[in-house]
Amino acid sequence: MPRIRVEPLGIEVDAPRGETVLDAVCAHGFFWPVGCDRIGECTNCAMEVISGVGRLSAMGRYERQNLVRQRGPGATDDPRLRLACQARVEGDIVVYKRGVAPA
Ligand code: FES
Repeated sequence: MPRIRVEPLGIEVDAPRGETVLDAVCAHGFFWPVGCDRIGECTNCAMEVISGVGRLSAMGRYERQNLVRQRGPGATDDPRLRLACQARVEGDIVVYKRGVAPA
């Protein structure tokens, strides 16, 4: 089962393959900052993928469009910036997201 490490909190959780990063972490009792109904609209859940970017599902057109719309035309230049509510886990990853905390 894939494992997600979240920095700077330093937690690790197991995630069913195909689960979004956000749902997997929240299922273990943690709060993750969001601003919409986890639909890829607000980009508040955006995270930096420190390692394992290739072990996430590919970025879809909707995620890409909203990152550009909310954060500017260069937002998708760095593939490490992903939306936690859209990126699905396919293997072990380490991500950085401020605001993640015990719920
Ligand atoms: S929670 Fe709004 S874009 Fe992910």
